[in-house]
Amino acid sequence: MSALLGVYDRDLVLVRGKGSRLFAEDGRAFLDFAAGIGVNGLGYGDAKVLAAIRKQAGHLIHASNLFHTEPASLLADRLASLAFPSRVFFCNSGTEAWEAALKFARKIGRAAGRTEFLCFERAFHGRTLGALSTTWNPKYREPFEPLVPGVRFLPWGDLGAVAAAINDKTAAVMLEPVQGEGGVRPATAEFLRGLRELTHERGALLALDEVQCGLGRTGKLFAYEHAGITPDLLTLAKPLGGGLPMGAVLVADAFASAIAVGDHGSTFGGNPVAAAASLAVLDRLAASGFVPGVARRAKTLRAGLKKLQKKHAAIAEVRGLGLMIGVEFKGEAGPVLKGLRERGVLATKAGDRVLRLLPPLVVKAAEVREFLAALDAVLEGGAGAAP
Ligand SMILES: Cc1ncc(COP(=O)(O)O)c(C=O)c1O
Repeated sequence: MSALLGVYDRDLVLVRGKGSRLFAEDGRAFLDFAAGIGVNGLGYGDAKVLAAIRKQAGHLIHASNLFHTEPASLLADRLASLAFPSRVFFCNSGTEAWEAALKFARKIGRAAGRTEFLCFERAFHGRTLGALSTTWNPKYREPFEPLVPGVRFLPWGDLGAVAAAINDKTAAVMLEPVQGEGGVRPATAEFLRGLRELTHERGALLALDEVQCGLGRTGKLFAYEHAGITPDLLTLAKPLGGGLPMGAVLVADAFASAIAVGDHGSTFGGNPVAAAASLAVLDRLAASGFVPGVARRAKTLRAGLKKLQKKHAAIAEVRGLGLMIGVEFKGEAGPVLKGLRERGVLATKAGDRVLRLLPPLVVKAAEVREFLAALDAVLEGGAGAAP
């Protein structure tokens, strides 16, 4: 329909959003359980985010990183105070944040000869060459090899494998606390705690990618809080900018002095309008009751899905954390997605058999019920069944 390069398979033309609803060019309305792949945590048209964007756009849209701007400085302080004592680097996307984390891990480890990365099967960290090197799926990786050397993939959840692989060349152990694209697979709290102990003992960094699972989605502000640990490097992106491009890497204070002027950069990173939007997003997320509300709504959705699992043999498993949920089918998830779309519901997939649900964090209980009724009807029709 246009000169767009064909790297995406898409057809729907969207023109407007409100709350958890999206509206198409042809007038159709959709309940959105994809939320722009986890970006639209506050749904569409949040008044505080909109006001912050309008106000900052009237003052200064771009300044470059040759100068300070107030929104970026305030945002760095806010993130460090919400997460852990750290210094913050801003960029514009998830893959850029992970790319920066890889560089920072190498720079921190270099003096001790630590330049290698331990990653996990089914990991997804982005599409640029560095991030792709730590992304597991051969379909994404192989057409672009040779990639960055020094990366090993270990079985997910296998602490023994990490203990055997970690050595004095390991710069960092790197993972998503909840794998997203790889099928919505939460790390157990024991696994995360084990990795934290192991990396401490063996002198490697622990880098967590919360680009998709961070900022309230799992029912805690940061997913690592479920395990009672903090990482050395943390990446954030998707929901941070309230829909504007914004990514961040937090480098724990203990390691920040290894990064010096000129080690990394980004022309647009920390853009003042995106930073102002991010501050408004964090105000909403940090308001008392917001994140516990996410956990409550997640419980309702999970309970409803478990009921559907009892009713429909097509559902093999329901898993996830908070409002990041994977429903694995015995057959293909594609027909389920198609059936939902026909009933006015948008969702996304994570692999061939997993329906991935990432509703806006502000989804209402009635909308959760509406989603469950639509899924029930789609499964009645036989979608998702074993081949
Ligand atoms: C965990 C994780 N890391 C990194 C990325 C890459 O983010 P972006 O698409 O903004 O580059 C994604 C995107 O889905 C992701 O889920």
